[in-house]
Amino acid sequence: MSKSALLKSSIAKKYWMSLTGLFLCLFLVGHLAGNLQLIFTTGEEGKRAFNEYAYFMAHNPAIKILSYLTYISIIFHAIDGIMLAIQNKRARPIPYAYNNPSANSSLASRNMAILGTLILVFIATHMANFWWKAKISSDKFPLHMKELTVEDSNPMTGQPQKVNVKLYLTTSGDYVPVDQLEVKNNTDLYAKGVDLKMAEGYKDLHSLVFAFFGHNKSKEGFPVNDMALGAVLFYVISMFVMGFHLWHGFSSAFQSLGLNHPSYTPLIKKAGYGFAVLVPLLFAIIPILIFLTK
Ligand code: HEM
Repeated sequence: MSKSALLKSSIAKKYWMSLTGLFLCLFLVGHLAGNLQLIFTTGEEGKRAFNEYAYFMAHNPAIKILSYLTYISIIFHAIDGIMLAIQNKRARPIPYAYNNPSANSSLASRNMAILGTLILVFIATHMANFWWKAKISSDKFPLHMKELTVEDSNPMTGQPQKVNVKLYLTTSGDYVPVDQLEVKNNTDLYAKGVDLKMAEGYKDLHSLVFAFFGHNKSKEGFPVNDMALGAVLFYVISMFVMGFHLWHGFSSAFQSLGLNHPSYTPLIKKAGYGFAVLVPLLFAIIPILIFLTK
């Protein structure tokens, strides 16, 4: 391959990496906004808000398209990044004789491929734990359920008594008694003994996340993770790695796209540093708080 073709292809790779990288930054903002509901609203209200949000994200056609774009971007960004790293290594197999890396580039910029690979490992395990269980697996998935204690009168004695009632939340917003229904096809609620679909329930993703990060209140079907502390640490370390990756990646994407301007570039750099600190920090706070408030 001629030198100019190689250059062209590596420029093209950088271009696509920048576009997919910036799109993934947008995904991060949206995903963070959705996940912050896990800690900002508590009790039944919080659980309901998160499960309704997750249902909307899984069923809205426009969001579905954005989801596919996200998967494609992750794959494209990772493959392009690995190819670029190999290409750079081949172009200079022997390092410069006088090399002072810390003076020429930041630690993050010199380790983008390693940081990216670690993030890819994080995404793979993260999707196996949440996305696979919620969207792909056909295993039984607990539905959003609310428990109430109500006053009733004893049918034999007529005396008042307290009765525990379990209710499913349906996608039309009503609560329906669990003991009168049976679940088919994961979320369809059928009247017991009759082949009649009454409503649809919500998958309880809120409890899946809470159980994963060791919250002992998530008793509806998901066993509390014995390794929750390890999971929380893994998330915190991964967010640290992601922060490092974004520290260099955010502003460098604008540069690779040719969006350079003497008055805007310093501003983009500052915005990139802010993004690289704030977004991973807020992501990391979520598992920590869930673990600590158990
Ligand atoms: C505390 C932090 C996080 C929590 C609690 C969380 C939670 C979840 C949950 C419950 C899902 C499955 C539900 C769904 O697909 O809508 C999911 C999907 C996903 N998460 Fe996260 N997440 C966190 C951080 C991250 C981070 C930092 C990344 C990327 C680096 C990420 C990437 C993804 C992707 C790509 C999906 C699949 C999205 C889709 O299907 O459209 N998540 N996450």
